[in-house]
Amino acid sequence: MSNSNVTLTTPDHSVSLPLVEGSQGPSCVDIASLYRETGHFTFDPGFAATAACKSAITFIDGEKGVLLYRGYPIEQLAEQSRFLEVAYLLLEGELPTAEQMHAFEDQITHHTMMHESVKNFLHGFHYDAHPMAMLCASVASLSAFYHDTTDNEDPAQRKLAAIRLIAKMPTLAAAAYRYSIGWPIRYPRNNLEYVDRFLHMMFEVPSEPLKINAVAAKALDLLFILHADHEQNASTSTVRLVGSTGANPYASVAAGIAALWGPAHGGANEAVLKMLTEIGTPANVSKAVERAKDKNSGFRLMGFGHRVYKNFDPRAKIIRATCHEVLDKLGVNDPLLDIAMKLEEVALKDDYFIEHKLYPNVDFYSGIIYKALKIPTEMFTVMFAIARTAGWISHWIEQHEMPGGRIGRPRQVYVGATPREYKAIENR
Ligand code: SDX
Repeated sequence: MSNSNVTLTTPDHSVSLPLVEGSQGPSCVDIASLYRETGHFTFDPGFAATAACKSAITFIDGEKGVLLYRGYPIEQLAEQSRFLEVAYLLLEGELPTAEQMHAFEDQITHHTMMHESVKNFLHGFHYDAHPMAMLCASVASLSAFYHDTTDNEDPAQRKLAAIRLIAKMPTLAAAAYRYSIGWPIRYPRNNLEYVDRFLHMMFEVPSEPLKINAVAAKALDLLFILHADHEQNASTSTVRLVGSTGANPYASVAAGIAALWGPAHGGANEAVLKMLTEIGTPANVSKAVERAKDKNSGFRLMGFGHRVYKNFDPRAKIIRATCHEVLDKLGVNDPLLDIAMKLEEVALKDDYFIEHKLYPNVDFYSGIIYKALKIPTEMFTVMFAIARTAGWISHWIEQHEMPGGRIGRPRQVYVGATPREYKAIENR
C-alpha cells in the first residue's frame, strides 16, 4: 500500500496531506494534521465520504455491487459456506480447516446457555415488549454476569467474549420471543447445529416434538451469511465508537443492536413487510411509487436505496432468488411477494429511482422469507442482529488489535448563540 500526497489550498494556507491507500478501493486523504495546519475542520454529516478506520474484514464496491468477506465474494460464500464457518472467517480472517471448524463449533455449542438469572431479567418486561428492546437489554446485561471477559487488552478474553456473543444471541433472541408469546423458554440442544438449535428454541412446544424443516433451516442459514457483516454501516460504526472508549464487548454489541433497530437501517426489514401490507395489492404499487417520489409525503419505499450501493445490492439478488425457491418448496403462496415483485418492476423503470440510483437492498426480500418461515414480523430485526453479531464482534476485536487506537470524538460546525451575558430573571 503506497502513500503519496495531495495539496489542499485555503485562502491562508497550502498544506500537503498524505494519501492513504488500501489493498483495494478508493484512496483516502489523511486529514489528521488539517486543523493544526489550517485551523479548518472537514464537514461530512453522515460520513458519506469519510473513512473512520482501516479494516481488513469486509470490502464493498457500491458502483459494481461487490461484497467480499475477507476477500471471498458473497456469492461464493452464499453458495458453498454456512453461517458458522462465515463467522469463523470474519473473526479469524481465514477459512477454517476441518479441525479448526470442529473446535470452533464445539466452543460455540458449549456457550449457548444463558445464566438462569437472565430469565428473571426478561420476566421484568411486559409480554408486549418489542423483542429488540429485550435483546438489547439482555445483551447489555451479559457484562453483569461475565466478569471474566471484560479486560479488553487480553486477546483470550476478547475471543471468549466473541464466542459467548455468537453462541448466546440465538438463545437470548428465542427467549425474548417465547416470553412475548407466553411460551416456556426452551434450552439450547447441543446435539443440533446452530440454525436447527435456534429454530428448536423458537418453535418447539412441550406438547409435541418439533420436526425441523430442512428447507427453512437452509434458508435461514443463508440469510445469516448475507447479514453477517457489511463494512462500516451505522450499527458496526456504533460498536466501534463505543468500543473505542474501552467499554466491554457486551455493552458495545448492545449499542450496535440499538443502532440496528432504526427503520433506516436493520429495522427496514420489518418496515418493508408493513409497507407491502399497507400497499395491499399490486394495483396500488404505482400510487406508492408516486408517493415515495413526493418529498412532502414523508413516505419512502422501505427496502430501497443504500448509502453505498448505487447498483443492485448483491445480497438482494441472492435473497430474491431464494425467495422464490423457498416459497415454492414450502408451498407458500404469499401475495406480498407479488406486490414486492411489482414494486421492484415499477420502481426500477421509474426515472426518479434511476436518477437517484435506488435499488432493492438486503431488507427488501428478506422479510418475505422470514414470514414464510413463520417468524413474526417484530422478530425480523432480531434475526438481523443474530447474524450481524459475528461482524460486530469481529470489528470490535479488530479495533483492539490494531495499533494506535484512539477514542472516537468527532467535531462539529457550531451554529448556536454567540457569547452573551446572563440576565437575572426579573430583567428578561
Ligand atoms: C441497511 O450501511 C449499510 O451497509 C446498511 C446495511 C447493512 O448491511 O448494514 O446494508 C443494511 O440498513 C440497508 C438499508 C435499509 N434501509 C431502508 O431500506 C430504508 C429506506 N432507504 C433509505 O431511507 C435510504 O435509502 C438509506 C437510509 C438506506 C440511505 O440513505 P442515504 O444514503 O443517506 O440517502 P438519502 O436519504 O440522502 O437519499 C438520497 C436521495 C434523497 O433524495 P434527494 O433529497 O437527494 O432528492 O434518495 C432519496 C432521498 O429522498 N431516497 C429515497 C429512498 N432512499 C433514498 N426515495 C424514496 N425511497 C427510498 N427508499
